[in-house]
Amino acid sequence: MRSSGRNHLSLLGDNGVVAVLIALHALPSAEGYKHVVFMHGLFSGAVEFTHFNDLIQNYHPGTPTTLVNSFASMDSLTRLTKQVETIAALLAPVLTNKSSDGTILICYSQGGLICRGLLALVQHNVDTFISLSSPLAGQYGDTEYLKVLFPKYVKKHMYKLFYTSIGQQLSIANYWNDPHQQALYEKFSDFLAILNNQSRTASANSHEYRNNFLRLKNLVLVGGPDDEVISPWQSSQFGMYNTTERVLPMEQQKWYQNDAFGLKNLNERGAVHMHVFPGIRHNSWPHDENVFTTCIKPWLT
Ligand SMILES: *[C@@H]1O[C@H](CO)[C@@H](O)[C@H](O)[C@H]1NC(C)=O
Ligand SMILES: *[C@@H]1O[C@H](CO)[C@@H](O)[C@H](O)[C@H]1NC(C)=O
Ligand SMILES: *[C@@H]1O[C@H](CO)[C@@H](O)[C@H](O)[C@H]1NC(C)=O
Repeated sequence: MRSSGRNHLSLLGDNGVVAVLIALHALPSAEGYKHVVFMHGLFSGAVEFTHFNDLIQNYHPGTPTTLVNSFASMDSLTRLTKQVETIAALLAPVLTNKSSDGTILICYSQGGLICRGLLALVQHNVDTFISLSSPLAGQYGDTEYLKVLFPKYVKKHMYKLFYTSIGQQLSIANYWNDPHQQALYEKFSDFLAILNNQSRTASANSHEYRNNFLRLKNLVLVGGPDDEVISPWQSSQFGMYNTTERVLPMEQQKWYQNDAFGLKNLNERGAVHMHVFPGIRHNSWPHDENVFTTCIKPWLT
């Protein structure tokens, strides 16, 4: 790890999973800069965001930043409720710091769903959530990473594995959103369906989750049509397929219309900012300087 100042490492053993949080506090801590937290995507770790962290330190030297390294590489397949609970505990000093100027979450791909979980679970001080090509409304597609894990499966059949309690032990099953199997999704999805208040079983905390989510001041949704992994790519902006696999925007989703987790409320107060970039492949989002300049830099005040 490179850093312009002290490195603080906290380690936490968790059912055999070693969760690591790397906080890079440049010296001296600069007044007035919000704390920036980076959340990595599937099969990656803190290293994914070292370039953006460098860009922030160049622009605003002394910005306090934290690059989450918990559930890195293969451990990123751990079910998301487990990941969110662990990461919420690790980040609590930052996310609930009453004397800070607030937090900016920059979350990529699967990391965006982890951040959605944090924003629901924690009575947080997050000012801005910047989501970089995250499948926020779920994923339904034949993508390379799925073929690596399950060479014989095609998307149409994945629900048979994913919509079971054993399948739900895998993170990618937690946000699998098969438009043709919505009844099973509502029954088994123990993460996305709960966040969207679509779950048959657990809506007990839905109002608390919504109230926490509404603490956000800005929601920045970044994605694009040449992503090739997030499917549909509009899931990065809360769009999802209907039963005939046409993508409907968030405004036509039931959980938007009944404001199940606060998205409609945020949108009506002008807090949702969408950016669509053509020509960017999935792996490039956390390194792209144009994305940094357009979608991150303006919020770093
Ligand atoms: C909380 O915020 C204050 C003010 O910015 C800062 O000095 C302190 O280090 C922060 N604590 C943590 C745990 O980040
Ligand atoms: C899906 O959406 C498309 C576009 O709005 C619409 O034409 C189609 O009828 C919808 N399918 C169903 C089953 O509602
Ligand atoms: C979630 O769904 C339940 C059951 O339909 C409902 O009673 C509750 O009010 C909903 N919560 C929110 C935040 O809309």
